[in-house]
Amino acid sequence: MITITASDQDLTEQAKKIAQQWGFIFSPSCQDPFSLQLTPQHLQLVQSYKHSPGPIYIDFSSGQIAHRRLFGGGKGQAIAKAVGLNKLPYPVILDATAGMGKDAFVFASLGARVTLMERSPISAALLTDALQRASLDNNISEIIKRMDFVYGDARLLESDETTTLNEKPDVIYLDPMFPHRKKSALVKKEMLAFQSLIGDDNDSNELLNISRQQAKKRVVVKRPIKAPYLDNQKPSLSMNMKKHRFDIYFV
Ligand SMILES: C[S@@+](CC[C@H](N)C(=O)[O-])C[C@H]1O[C@@H](n2cnc3c(N)ncnc32)[C@H](O)[C@@H]1O
Repeated sequence: MITITASDQDLTEQAKKIAQQWGFIFSPSCQDPFSLQLTPQHLQLVQSYKHSPGPIYIDFSSGQIAHRRLFGGGKGQAIAKAVGLNKLPYPVILDATAGMGKDAFVFASLGARVTLMERSPISAALLTDALQRASLDNNISEIIKRMDFVYGDARLLESDETTTLNEKPDVIYLDPMFPHRKKSALVKKEMLAFQSLIGDDNDSNELLNISRQQAKKRVVVKRPIKAPYLDNQKPSLSMNMKKHRFDIYFV
């Protein structure tokens, strides 16, 4: 179980509440290789081992995510075409593997209504914190209003569809963790950290099958370029990028 600390004494009560909400342990300090830390700016994942990268947090307002919103190519970018944003102007999208919420934010900034599902309490806590902060930023608060977060395993949609989602999504987007065997330059340090904490998504074949039953129009799967199809199911079409591809299954 992961420990959460607070950078300032006056954040202690808030950090304890986060611990209670997500099942973390609160401690005044922590030397574990991975821990969460609440700072006045954000909740962050801190890594303290040899050559560890800096803290990881989600920031929808600035940095890489903001750059992608402003200069990423709008509805002409591959991910937007893959989910059909160039054809369906305001689709309802379920991002069933929300992770850091980066892809979901692209969909919402291009007009889609997006439900983000995530089953890891660590990612869920980071995402909830980021969405709350972003909702206070006038530049992006309208985008954030189109994003709803649901904590849980998306495979439960099969049995639980009416209570978890208000309506069936037009599109279900899947970007499950892919087991990277080598530490290649392609695998970002950020991803490696998450992978070692959250583990590989070995049940994503099942998630594909459930998604194909639940989506109204299409299921889109993001895969590394050389990875086999999920569950060996040939998609209706694939869009190939340099490092990854989008496999599209029309309903
Ligand atoms: C590679 S990350 C997704 C990154 C994301 N596309 C982004 O833009 O930040 C995969 C995430 O999917 C989550 N996940 C995998 N299977 C899931 C499931 N069945 N239900 C909910 N979350 C799932 C994992 O916990 C992990 O955080």
